[in-house]
Formats: sequence, C-alpha cells, structure tokens
Amino acid sequence: MRVLDAAAPAAPAPGEGRRFPFQRRSNARAAAPAVLDPCRTGREAAELEAGLRALVVGQDEAIAQIVNVYQMHLTGLCPPQRPVANLLFLGPTGSGKTRIVEATAETLVGTSRAVIKIDCAEFQHSHEIAKLIGSPPGYLGHRETHPLLSQEVLNQYHTDRVKLSFVLFDEIEKASDALWNLLLGILDKATLTLGDNRKVDFSRAMIFMTSNLGAAEMQSLISPKLGFQAAAGPGPDDGRMEGRIRRSGVEAARRKFTPEFMNRLDKVVVFRPLGEAELRRILDIELGLVQQRVLAASAERAFVFRLTDEAKDALLADGVDIRYGARHLKRSIERMLVQPLSNLIATEQIRGGDLVRVDWDAGTRCLTFLREDEGIPMQAMAELLEPPARAWVRAAAAAPPLPQKAPLARGSRRG
Ligand SMILES: Nc1ncnc2c1ncn2[C@@H]1O[C@H](COP(=O)(O)OP(=O)(O)OP(=O)(O)O)[C@@H](O)[C@H]1O
Ligand SMILES: [Mg+2]
Repeated sequence: MRVLDAAAPAAPAPGEGRRFPFQRRSNARAAAPAVLDPCRTGREAAELEAGLRALVVGQDEAIAQIVNVYQMHLTGLCPPQRPVANLLFLGPTGSGKTRIVEATAETLVGTSRAVIKIDCAEFQHSHEIAKLIGSPPGYLGHRETHPLLSQEVLNQYHTDRVKLSFVLFDEIEKASDALWNLLLGILDKATLTLGDNRKVDFSRAMIFMTSNLGAAEMQSLISPKLGFQAAAGPGPDDGRMEGRIRRSGVEAARRKFTPEFMNRLDKVVVFRPLGEAELRRILDIELGLVQQRVLAASAERAFVFRLTDEAKDALLADGVDIRYGARHLKRSIERMLVQPLSNLIATEQIRGGDLVRVDWDAGTRCLTFLREDEGIPMQAMAELLEPPARAWVRAAAAAPPLPQKAPLARGSRRG
C-alpha cells in the first residue's frame, strides 16, 4: 500500500517541465535580500591562516594567497586540470620564501618534510633530469632510479583529512631548458610524463617557485636604510619603499621570464624585507623552536630556559642585518645561545628538570647562564613554556613509552 502525502508537490503535468529548486514560485513571498560577506573564510582555511601567522612574520600578502587557494581547493572551485596553486615568490634573501612553504606543510599535514624541494640549479643536464622523472626503459640504471616526482612521492604525506602535495622549485631562473619545459607542463596541465611514460597528476599539488631575480636591485633599495636607523622600526616612507621593491621584483621577472610562463602563474608575491620589529617576533619563534629541540633531544635531560629582555636585545643587536634577513639572526642564536647550552649539558652543569635563566653581561659582552630552580617534573615544566612548546611537552609527557625492542638472539632461525 502506498501512503499518499497530501502536502507533497504534485508531479509536473506533461509539458510543464521540471522546476529547479532555486526557481521561485510566482506566488511565493520574496525573501529579504541579505548582505553576504565574501571575505569570511571557512573554519579550516581560518585554521591554516592562524597556523601560518604563528610561524611566519610580516608576509601577509603571501599568507593571504595561500589561504585563498586552499579555500578554493576545499570548496572544489579550483580550475580543473590545474595545480591547486601556481605561486611565484620573489624578494630579499632570508625573508621567509622557503619558510612559508614549510609552514604550510607543517600546518596542514604536520611536517615540513612533506615539501618536495627541487633546487633548479642542480638539474642542469639531461642525466640530472632523470633524477626527477626517471630514465626511459632500456637505459642504463632504469630500474635503479626512483624518480623524485613520482605519484607515490607526491602522495606520501597525504593524510585522511588533507590530500595535498607541496612542491617547491627553488631558484627557477637557473632551470635548464629541459627542466623549464617540464615545469611549464606541470603548471599548465597538472601532469608530468615520467621516463617510462607513466603520468603523474599534480592537480592536488600546490606549486611554489622562488627566484632571487631582482634581488640586487632590491638590495640597493634596502641598503641606504642599513644600520641603526633601519633597526629603529618602520619609517614614514616604508610603504613607498615596499612599493618600489615590489615593482623592481615584478619587472625583473617580466624581463627574464617568457609571457607563456608568467601567464600560467596565479600570483607573483614579492616578500617584504624584514625590519627590526619583525625580527624581534622571529626571535621569539626561533627561541621557542630551540626550546623544542632541547625537549626533543632527551626526555631525561629536558630543561627549560628563559631569556631576559637584555639577553634578547643582545641577540638582536648581534643578529639584525637587514641584508641577510632572519638568516643572520638564526646564526647569532646558534652561536651565542645553542653552543654554550650544549657545553653546559655535556658537562652536566645543566641537568634534566632545571630552570635556567639566560641574561646579558654588558661588561664581558656575553650571555650568562644561571640555574634558578631544579628537579621540576615534566608536567610542571610545561606551565613555564610559551603555548607551542607547552603543547609539545604535554603531548610528549602523555605519550606512552616507546616499546623496548627485544634483541635478536645470535644465530636464531626464523620460522
Ligand atoms: N618572515 C619570516 N617569519 C618567520 N621566520 C622567518 C621569516 N623569514 C625568515 N625566517 C627564518 O629565517 C630562515 C631563512 O628564511 P628562508 O629560508 O625562508 O629565506 P628565503 O626567503 O627562502 O631566502 P633565500 O632567497 O636566500 O632562499 C627560516 O628558516 C626562518 O627560520
Ligand atoms: Mg629559500
């Protein structure tokens, strides 16, 4: 027996045609128009943005581009048969071009190792291209070469939630013609043909390219601002200088690259040179990463260190060189902080559970190290840390101990 629903719409009469769900009936009341906000992003894209902002300082345009393409990918609106993104990053050295790609992978799939990095300068000759795509059948070494750009390599860091790959072509201006043709094919059709004719699909890949083109011109624009003045923070003409740096980067790219390449890009982003305010924030991020390294090195010797403002100022005074961006600052942290810390650990002057204060002695012009507390349990240590390192310690403390491997008996037989 069929139960009939009187409220159900009648089947269309022959000839009346189908009514689409969004077609308004003539007698229905019009809904009040609602103003929609196209700038709001969904939860997952907002999480990516927050993750990138926590790791990358001062490169808002690049962050916005990555978040935009990710949002389009999530909603399925990316152009078909193209990579999820084709982005070219230009800008001064040490300004975060490579870091932002690593940070994207870290935030989305949990590790920066997911970035497949191709240093274009290393693939000049045809036998080097074989490292990327493998050699054709019959060639010597055909079976031994595992192409760097195979589908398996591309998919190896896919997670249940995120099925994206991250491919970085570094210093593309140094690419040979063979590599260049390969790159154009990927950017245009999202496919690559391997040496043995298998196809690799790049339609779930974000393609990032970096170039130092225009770096010399950018440098000459930045140079007059070197020294203490530059370290004093953004000046009134900073916006104008940024505009000039941007233009010189884009013009250099247009001079060097063919229109067919430029037309395949979704966006050219010129990274801003980092000023003192940005480097100060990067210092805090880097100190957090050193703290994580200390905690990851050994659970028994895990300790917490804290720097006074004077110690941070000293690291900045040594590490701020606008020409080299954050690279120089990282070198100062390694030399002035990490190396002395490793000596203190090796000589057991610092032991697990210690709280160490790092200060600056203006007389000797050295960082000083003082044990403020000792015997602090792991959980209590977490409370002394900044949020990212704190979450890390909590997770490490909660993780079950690694299973002990039973030693294999000598001469034992399997089966
Ligand atoms: N904007 C930034 N935010 C956070 N960290 C940064 C930033 N820029 C640089 N760093 C730090 O400096 C290091 C070097 O930066 P990165 O490798 O991204 O430079 P780059 O712009 O790719 O330079 P190059 O053109 O020389 O390759 C990074 O590993 C990171 O630790
Ligand atoms: Mg780089």
